Amino acid sequence: MCGIVGYVGERHAGEVVLQGLRRLEYRGYDSCGIASVHGGRIELRKDAGMLDEIEAQMGLSGVPGNTAIGHTRWATHGGVTKENAHPHLDCSRRIAVVHNGIISNYRELREELEAKGHRFLSTTDTEVLPHLIEEHYSGNLEQAVLKALERVRGSYALLAVSASEPGKLVAARMESPLVIGVGEGEMFVASDVFPFLRYTRRAVPLEDGEVAVITPGGYRVMDMRGMPVQKSEIRVEWSDEEARKEGYPHFMLKEIHEQPSTIAAALRIYPEDITRLAEMMAEADRVYLAGAGTSLHAAMVAEYWFSRLAEKCVIPIDSSELENKAVVDPTTLVVGITQSGETYDTLSALRFARRRGARTAAIVNVIGSTATRIAEHVVMQGSGIEIAVCATKTYTSQLTLLLRTALELARMQGKGVEELERGMQELPAVVAEVLELESEIAEVARSFFSVSNYIFMGRGINYPTALEGALKLKEISYLHAEGMSSGLLKHGTISLIDENMHTVAFVPPEGQNRRRVESNIQEVRARGGRVMVIASGKPAAGDACIAVREVHELLTPLVFAPVFQLIAYHVALKLGRNVDRPRALAKSVTVE
Ligand code: G6P
Repeated sequence: MCGIVGYVGERHAGEVVLQGLRRLEYRGYDSCGIASVHGGRIELRKDAGMLDEIEAQMGLSGVPGNTAIGHTRWATHGGVTKENAHPHLDCSRRIAVVHNGIISNYRELREELEAKGHRFLSTTDTEVLPHLIEEHYSGNLEQAVLKALERVRGSYALLAVSASEPGKLVAARMESPLVIGVGEGEMFVASDVFPFLRYTRRAVPLEDGEVAVITPGGYRVMDMRGMPVQKSEIRVEWSDEEARKEGYPHFMLKEIHEQPSTIAAALRIYPEDITRLAEMMAEADRVYLAGAGTSLHAAMVAEYWFSRLAEKCVIPIDSSELENKAVVDPTTLVVGITQSGETYDTLSALRFARRRGARTAAIVNVIGSTATRIAEHVVMQGSGIEIAVCATKTYTSQLTLLLRTALELARMQGKGVEELERGMQELPAVVAEVLELESEIAEVARSFFSVSNYIFMGRGINYPTALEGALKLKEISYLHAEGMSSGLLKHGTISLIDENMHTVAFVPPEGQNRRRVESNIQEVRARGGRVMVIASGKPAAGDACIAVREVHELLTPLVFAPVFQLIAYHVALKLGRNVDRPRALAKSVTVE
């Protein structure tokens, strides 16, 4: 999973591509490179390391000319080395290729090409592409790419340039995202729209099986047989400003603080789309909410809303397991929850559902992403761009949309849900109050988080809160944390409790679950464990406590989220971690 950018026009292409790659670093960032076409040859610069380091060392953007392609890599096949960084070249060094995805039959292709005398320099799957294109090249790059792709199995978004054809990019897509940006006398192409938003809002997403020929004056799209395909443009309203930090030291902090307005947006937008989703749920015998990472946790919270408010049994499911265990037939609805709209496993789950004749829907944040085109019905999140790898504002937006859907379903059944409806409308104000506690939360983060192991626990609707709280801490601080239901703690894990294993407990307002969590806290403290409490309403006994305004228990996941997000942020900051770009992670995982 990687990010790719291409440019043709009149500007200095290396500079445009470098700026674009900076916008894509969230997709992966262990190596990078740029190749340009100039003076009848390919100029290549690449290395292992972060973009800014490599730029400082070798001036990536200094490649000459007005046609260039670039890549930021997150290793899948082959270690993190200079040789494995993209772009990759053919033997004659006249064809350069960048690629996102996995060529599944690369071993066989490589053996065959090596037998014909091609020399490989890397251990990547990608390098077979320039050599295959070289095999078929006779002066027309798109023809050679089409021929090469006849042999290729797997997933790809690729860009190719030829030293003999300056001012031309050839792009192809199969199961990995690629979007053309349409400018005046210049064209862009990238893994998503962010790299070109500062130049143009006009975008043309490519579909699987499409190949595009891109020149400064326009683009031409064809299918794998070379037959022309008509495309339509979409307009992307997100401004480039939205992608800046606006004075915050990190995107993650900026995005945490945007939550009062992103939740407010999620409360307002697309009422018809929410109603349609609720109707589809009512019509289905079986509903799966499929997601990965944070989006899966949103699905797990929603399960409680659908059962408590609308007596509807929905099944949250790890997208990568849907095919293995779900019962999917035409009476089933699969709802993909995916911020990026590009997570491979969630797209596969939706595609699988379609093959089985099931209904599909998706809750997605990124405009023009693949999920928005695969699913039969789409609800957009409207959260704006999320740049930090760690999902924060898009989690609470997903929650808000899912809660609205559950309330809508309950209303359709004639159930009275006014109290919760009113409480939901107050969430932006309550979350703004929670964010005002940042200095108190930061203090607890610095003092309480002094060991390497943590248990996050909660009951009922805050069981998934515990999972998400632990995930945030793990992702960016690299400390070990596990989330679980506090009821489960005594069935094994409690034996780990000692002075080196701290616990974070989510305590809801007065009621049965509060009493139960409080007694679980006592069980931990009785064994010498230290407990930090995050409570709604009255503070609860613990070694540290953050208490936020009381809300209905079913709304607490939305007010607890900013607390654990800020904790993770301040712990990572204290440990000197790269908050926005944690090691080994990528924002959008487009591989299996
Ligand atoms: C990656 C990211 C997570 C994210 C997950 C699902 O693992 O690092 O933060 O929650 O993918 O992403 P999606 O875009 O499908 O919501």
